[in-house]
Amino acid sequence: MAQNWTPTSWRHKPIQQVPDYPDLAALAATEERLAKFPPLVFAGEARRLKSALANVADGKGFLLQGGDCAESFAEHGADTIRDFFRAFLQMAVVLTFGAQQPVVKVGRIAGQFAKPRSSNTEKQGDVSLPSYRGDIINGIEFTEEARIPNPERQIMAYRQSAATLNLLRAFAMGGYANLDNVHQWMLGFVKDSPQAERYRKLADRISETMDFMKAIGITPESNPNLRETDFFTSHEALLLGYEQALTRVDSTSGDWYATSGHMIWIGDRTRQADHAHIEYCRGIKNPLGLKCGPSLTGDGLLELIDLLNPSNEAGRLTLICRFGHDKVADNLPKLIRAVEREGKKVVWSCDPMHGNTITLNNYKTRPFERILSEVESFFQIHRAEGTHPGGIHIEMTGNDVTECTGGARALSGDDLADRYHTHCDPRLNADQALELAFLLAERMKGGRDEKRMVVNG
Ligand code: PEP
Ligand code: CO
Repeated sequence: MAQNWTPTSWRHKPIQQVPDYPDLAALAATEERLAKFPPLVFAGEARRLKSALANVADGKGFLLQGGDCAESFAEHGADTIRDFFRAFLQMAVVLTFGAQQPVVKVGRIAGQFAKPRSSNTEKQGDVSLPSYRGDIINGIEFTEEARIPNPERQIMAYRQSAATLNLLRAFAMGGYANLDNVHQWMLGFVKDSPQAERYRKLADRISETMDFMKAIGITPESNPNLRETDFFTSHEALLLGYEQALTRVDSTSGDWYATSGHMIWIGDRTRQADHAHIEYCRGIKNPLGLKCGPSLTGDGLLELIDLLNPSNEAGRLTLICRFGHDKVADNLPKLIRAVEREGKKVVWSCDPMHGNTITLNNYKTRPFERILSEVESFFQIHRAEGTHPGGIHIEMTGNDVTECTGGARALSGDDLADRYHTHCDPRLNADQALELAFLLAERMKGGRDEKRMVVNG
């Protein structure tokens, strides 16, 4: 048990990114209501994810984490969730083939509602209003009323998370994820995309392998691994009152768990060692992510690792590196060396989105080639340091949006206006996400061949 920790001890620490709720009594009443609601996830599931991540830390797996920058109340539909899940499964299959290792699947979903902002206000023309902070806090419409933080939104976010999770569990366990469906996962628009042929070839190879296995008696009916998949949820633990209300003691172990999602992470703006977000996260037993941006030093990272993972448990901590394509070479090696020098067990994951945002034609966007370049550097640096490039963390959707430029379809700045739907940061569309997965799979295969050559001497 973490020393001198309670689910409320974060309230005595300095805190960043807190919404300005006008009615604190209403906020407290909402938190009390939430505290009586059932947990969204269970401690045993979080432990299973932690042990899968321990294998990744050990070089025996790959973490695929992705989803919306911000989920929204307006876009809560079964088709959106299904399309996301399908694009995610396609990526996972491609990566499993490339890595020849288990792929740990974690969505930024069923709870990813609160957003840290670089500015407290947003200006349009002469009007300045409080920034939008995610649907769990206030509304995106540019009106005074919408921007007032409303606690009732936390109840909405909880209920939406529960409904989303219910559908995801059905997709993961109820037959949709059956490998026999690998051909059917091809999305309408991916079908005639530049990735279609590549994906079809891979799906053919999987089907052939499945036919062979069936012939020798290994079928999806007899083998759950072929018809079900483990899919976990994650979000940034930003709104600590909400997180506290869903923090529960696990009756099996007596430990505290966040039950708002399987894995939660700490954002780059709220990772000060003596502040509230680190305080809250150190006491719960879930697997944690820590965003590592350019301002983090080797010593700063080691201090955070000691706070968040004092017993050096593998799988507990995933370092999500988000430097930017032009900064990764200057920043990543020193963090890797500090961690290696002290023998800390971590999963290294690459978020190639948050350091590569630019403005084009008044849209926030991300050029695909910069995303790719950061991922490439991440892999190369890990190969050079002899460490395991363990995962990727991306903002993506299953829909055919036009938010990031580039990719095989060469989306340009002029295309952005067509289908720019995100509530916060620009996401890869399903086509770009699949393209990224193929490119990653090639890198992983390259790494395996290299290792083999060293072993065979
Ligand atoms: C995010 O993941 O949406 C985010 C805000 O990231 P970061 O904390 O790395 O800026
Ligand atoms: Co984002």
